[in-house]
Amino acid sequence: MEFLVKPGSVETLETSALVLTVNEQLQLDSQGQLIDTLCAGALSAHLQAGDIQGKLGQTLLLHNLANLKARRVLLVGIGKDEELSDSNVRKLVSAILSTFKNLSIKDATLAFADLTFKDRNAYSSARLVAECLVDGLYVFDQFKSEKAPIVQLNLITFACHQDQQVAVEKACKHGKAIASGMAFTRDLGNMPPNICHPRYLAEQAQELGKLHKNLSIEVLEEKQLEELGAGALLAVAQGSDQPPRMIIMNYHGGKRAEQPYVLIGKGITFDTGGISLKPGASMDEMKYDMGGAASVLGTFKTLLELQLPINVIGVLTCAENMPSGGATRPGDIVTSMSGQTIEILNTDAEGRLVLCDALTYAERFKPQAVINIATLTGACIVALGSQTSGLMGNNLSLIESLLSAGKQASDVAWQLPLFDDYQELLDSPFADIANIGGPKAGTITAGCFLSRFAKKYPWAHLDIAGTAWISGGKEKGATGRPVPLLIQYLLDRVQ
Ligand code: BES
Ligand code: MN
Ligand code: ZN
Repeated sequence: MEFLVKPGSVETLETSALVLTVNEQLQLDSQGQLIDTLCAGALSAHLQAGDIQGKLGQTLLLHNLANLKARRVLLVGIGKDEELSDSNVRKLVSAILSTFKNLSIKDATLAFADLTFKDRNAYSSARLVAECLVDGLYVFDQFKSEKAPIVQLNLITFACHQDQQVAVEKACKHGKAIASGMAFTRDLGNMPPNICHPRYLAEQAQELGKLHKNLSIEVLEEKQLEELGAGALLAVAQGSDQPPRMIIMNYHGGKRAEQPYVLIGKGITFDTGGISLKPGASMDEMKYDMGGAASVLGTFKTLLELQLPINVIGVLTCAENMPSGGATRPGDIVTSMSGQTIEILNTDAEGRLVLCDALTYAERFKPQAVINIATLTGACIVALGSQTSGLMGNNLSLIESLLSAGKQASDVAWQLPLFDDYQELLDSPFADIANIGGPKAGTITAGCFLSRFAKKYPWAHLDIAGTAWISGGKEKGATGRPVPLLIQYLLDRVQ
């Protein structure tokens, strides 16, 4: 999808379809009124005739209006609220796309210059629209014999006011890059686990590295992981025939000496639970347990497209959690890279095990901040649902930056406490720490576990178990979250 930004008058724009908004009071905005005047009140006539009520997402497609350069006008309802909320923007864009998906038009123009979005300026409004437009056309049909019909629409023009042009142009560039990162994340998540294993993720990182001079990739294999003492990561992998990988992605966009930001992604390419086997229902969805790693890869895709002037290191900690005769047992004690010993009481709490070694590994980069991203706990879905990612950490200013990034990017997170009082739930009679904390506060005790390995830098943990994918149903699949949040956080560091 290409974007064009055209400031000035809408009346003279040549386009296959001009999209105008109408509210429940049946009012057009100033751009709509200009068009209405030009075509001698044809739009008002339709409104008065009751052809559309202006309800959010309602559409009316009109042809052959007199005096217009636009071949069609699509009226779309925005409801009664004066300011559009993010979720209403999504509904609006999806209504527009469902109209255009069924038409064989190649271009359309949005006259949204006067539309007001709740808590958003011209830049962030247009960015959300651009992101939703591109993301809304995402399909994953690689494994279908019959492919989804190709959508013809490939050019969107934003008809804006003169003083909005620079902001809207930047918004289109950013929105498109974010959606392309999300598509990469979604593809990886949706990929079946027989194909998407740790070595596959390593290849994906290497492919990105080949395309960009300022990205270098290092892939650590079992022998190197043994030398590093990554006992926790190796323990998770030992029940699988698939060898683990730790993938290090080094993006150099900033000054040489500038300390990097580190993003660590959980990359469990399939989580059976191991010997603490999960129940059978929906187990297929545990292919998405590499959603953290996939979101780091997607963030890098966007980062590379935008070439942000910043240094970022990605660490993908990848393994498959399977229950073979070689698998770890409940009761096994392993030694992590940090030297701390861990009693594995539940082999299904494997995410924290692969992450803890990556957290220790990250110390060598002397990072400004470390953010780990993981589909870590079912308890997080119970607490926050699919709308909001869980956020924990050891540094208030980092937490605040991430909360604000989530809001700006319409990819929200909410903080849960890591009070010291929770730490004792992880006490083990036999080792330094147990890998589970009992039935209460499951998301927080997982965060507490990680905090033991993240003492040397500002650190935050995003639990994306609820937000990274949509379970069951027609919409089943990876969402591409939290790529928008992560990119916003990085954008905020450079501007
Ligand atoms: N990958 C799961 C978490 C998960 C569950 C994500 C459901 C998405 C949907 C993780 O490895 C896990 O199994 N966690 C356990 C932890 C428990 C054993 C302490 C859980 O949440 O049940
Ligand atoms: Mn698990
Ligand atoms: Zn898992």
